[in-house]
Amino acid sequence: MNVPEIFETLDYGPAPESAAEAQAWLEEHGRRFGHWIGGVWTAASEVFETRNPATGELLAEISQGTVTDVDAAVAAARKAFPAWSKKSGHARARVLYALARLIQKQSRLFAVLETLDNGKPIRESRDIDIPLVARHFYYHAGMAQLQDEELPDRAPLGVCAQVIPWNFPLLMLAWKIAPAIAMGNTVVLKPAEYTSLTALLFADLAREAGVPKGVINIVTGDGRTGAALTEHPGVDKVAFTGSTAVGRRIREATAGQGKALTLELGGKSPYIVFDDADLDSAIEGLVDAIWLNQGQVCCAGSRLLVQEGIAAGFYAKLRARMDKLRLGDPLDKAIDVGAVVDPVQLETITSLVSASPGEVYHAQVPLPDAGCFYPPTLITGLSQSDRLMQEEIFGPVLVGTTFRTPDEAVSLANNTRYGLAATLWTENVNLALDIAPKLVAGVVWVNATNLFDAAAGFGGVRESGFGREGGWEGLKAYTKPAGRAQALKPLKAFAAPKSAQVSALDRTAKLYIGGKQARPDGGYSRAVWGPKGTLCGHAPLANRKDIRNAVEAAQEAKGWARATGHLRAQILYYMGENLEARGEEFTDRLCGMTGASAAAARAEVAASVDRLFTWAAWADKHDGRAKGVPIRGVALAMNEPVGVIGALADDASPLLGLISLIGPSMAMGNRLVAVASEPFPLAGTDLYQVLDTSDVPPGVVNILAGSHAELAPHLAGHMDVDAVWTFSSTELSATVEREGAGTLKRTWVNNGVSRDWARTDADAFLTAATEVKTIWVPYGE
Ligand code: NAI
Repeated sequence: MNVPEIFETLDYGPAPESAAEAQAWLEEHGRRFGHWIGGVWTAASEVFETRNPATGELLAEISQGTVTDVDAAVAAARKAFPAWSKKSGHARARVLYALARLIQKQSRLFAVLETLDNGKPIRESRDIDIPLVARHFYYHAGMAQLQDEELPDRAPLGVCAQVIPWNFPLLMLAWKIAPAIAMGNTVVLKPAEYTSLTALLFADLAREAGVPKGVINIVTGDGRTGAALTEHPGVDKVAFTGSTAVGRRIREATAGQGKALTLELGGKSPYIVFDDADLDSAIEGLVDAIWLNQGQVCCAGSRLLVQEGIAAGFYAKLRARMDKLRLGDPLDKAIDVGAVVDPVQLETITSLVSASPGEVYHAQVPLPDAGCFYPPTLITGLSQSDRLMQEEIFGPVLVGTTFRTPDEAVSLANNTRYGLAATLWTENVNLALDIAPKLVAGVVWVNATNLFDAAAGFGGVRESGFGREGGWEGLKAYTKPAGRAQALKPLKAFAAPKSAQVSALDRTAKLYIGGKQARPDGGYSRAVWGPKGTLCGHAPLANRKDIRNAVEAAQEAKGWARATGHLRAQILYYMGENLEARGEEFTDRLCGMTGASAAAARAEVAASVDRLFTWAAWADKHDGRAKGVPIRGVALAMNEPVGVIGALADDASPLLGLISLIGPSMAMGNRLVAVASEPFPLAGTDLYQVLDTSDVPPGVVNILAGSHAELAPHLAGHMDVDAVWTFSSTELSATVEREGAGTLKRTWVNNGVSRDWARTDADAFLTAATEVKTIWVPYGE
């Protein structure tokens, strides 16, 4: 073709990127890789093949990590931990900085290798993945530098097991490794079996960056290696990104092991287009939302919701745009859509789409004869309950439906078990800022999509997992409070005496559900005896039905989440005032039940009043942040309530322990179902009088009493409870984590460690009582 002909047709010519350097690197390693453990390569063994999904070409053979390999890697990380964690923040910052620089210097090699291994267009690996990887190491070099001064009360967790997926292989490695090592942890990372090569190249680089031996270890293999690693007893923290099914399995398998856990799982993220949107921009956004990386993106905008009046025109524009997408050799710089990662994934996509009852439109684009290619696809005409409306396809397939009103858009958007991301397009800023907070998602993009940055937290709610990656909030997942932990001793109720002392007047304690006193459903109570044989009263014994009622009441009190911080503060102050007015009564109750001295009981009441004031103070001060992300715009980090929290209170401080849970839940806009101290429940059941007189709306706080061991599984397993905390002296950590796995509940368990209730520990409670939602708002016309 000559120049005049090119001007005539304006066709794209081929623009191939050379793979020579990447192939040479593979050759250097003999196209066979062992694991990177303790700063050396192990000999390759039990190898499996890794292939280029665009051509089927064999790239290399990789080792299947065995239990012995995992043991060795965890041991190397453990050995390296003391020295690495004791280094100054500055010393660690230098290593992260070196990694960032080396990634930039080798950026093209990384980009080409990623594209060869994963099938994503070189345009994406070169312009999105690798620059974001470098950015992540720079940003966290900064976090290491600031750690000593800004995070003096936090300590590293220890050895982190990190398992990552195949869709953004090096980027997910960066998201996992950078914050972990910045904070002084050591790491064993397992890349996905389809895409291990850039992790292995990174290991080569780690040596050049001066990463001490054993600080970063890379073990390759499939899910069996992942399971051996995440379940390893020598691991302190597990960080996983991948499918919801595997995330759930990891939650179950690690329940009760005392490991910190963050899960970044799947999604079915809505992409909402209002009728006043800039439609051409919304179409281009959609191309990024669902055809970036062939749609193999956890936060892909895979569910289009378009306002009815513009739907026909929008679909027509969309189909025309789909037909113009260029699909083919991922190493061609002018390609929009590359290959899906593996024949297995191609088969999954193909069978899901062919079984769909919807109207299927495949882009009219030529497909290469060989390789794992699937055309960009739009499916319409599905009902909300259809499989493809609800399930992650993880391919270049968009499902579309319409809505009429903004309210309907929100309700359709939230009609999913996931809650990772959401996108909305409108030229009306009032509408955008009204809708964004109503979407159940960890990330919301306004008039943009798929924006990521190291400074902005990323992560989901509901079955999209828990924890955030990026920003200050992401660091919490890689640190713990500094200081030694004390074991918590189980506490039993006083036994019935041989000769009882009973006061003449019977007082009836009840449960407190939905703002009303309620008799226990089972019709059982238990006598609560004081240390000297005095009958303090009868405590109701709640059962599963009472939990259901309490959760229902809490769900109905949704409006509390929207109450202003100022209003919540006033109610909490008022509770403090009313508790103090009944101070003598509570003091007597504590003395009678626990045998505490009058002075100690009075001090617990005073501390409880003080605690309510502290949480009243926090109610309007847990500010969000506006993140300085490298776009023309801001990423707002908003602290939102978690929802309904179920909590088992401390046993030893029956009043202060319970007040310390009520305070932060209410202050941050949550509703609470609390189970009072098991041996000393009456201070908890007495509290209804304080709540009743303090204008606490019905259902915001519900108080139950009974056996912690019996109630915990029901709380943790309840579909409509969003988080469960246990501070009980009964060992319930494993139960709560295991029972919470079904709904991927946020859990906060004590692992048999005691807590000093004299301290508010505001940071821990604020974190547990809120979810950070990142709302991206670009500027400009
Ligand atoms: P996966 O969740 O099985 O794989 C992710 C990682 O977990 C890989 O490194 C894998 O080796 C490891 N793994 C597998 N089983 C494990 C276990 N029992 N314990 C510990 N680690 C384990 O995802 P897969 O099978 O590759 O893809 C299946 C579907 O999952 C996709 O079609 C997609 O829907 C979803 N997916 C979602 C991702 C996301 O970012 N949300 C990423 C990858 C897949």
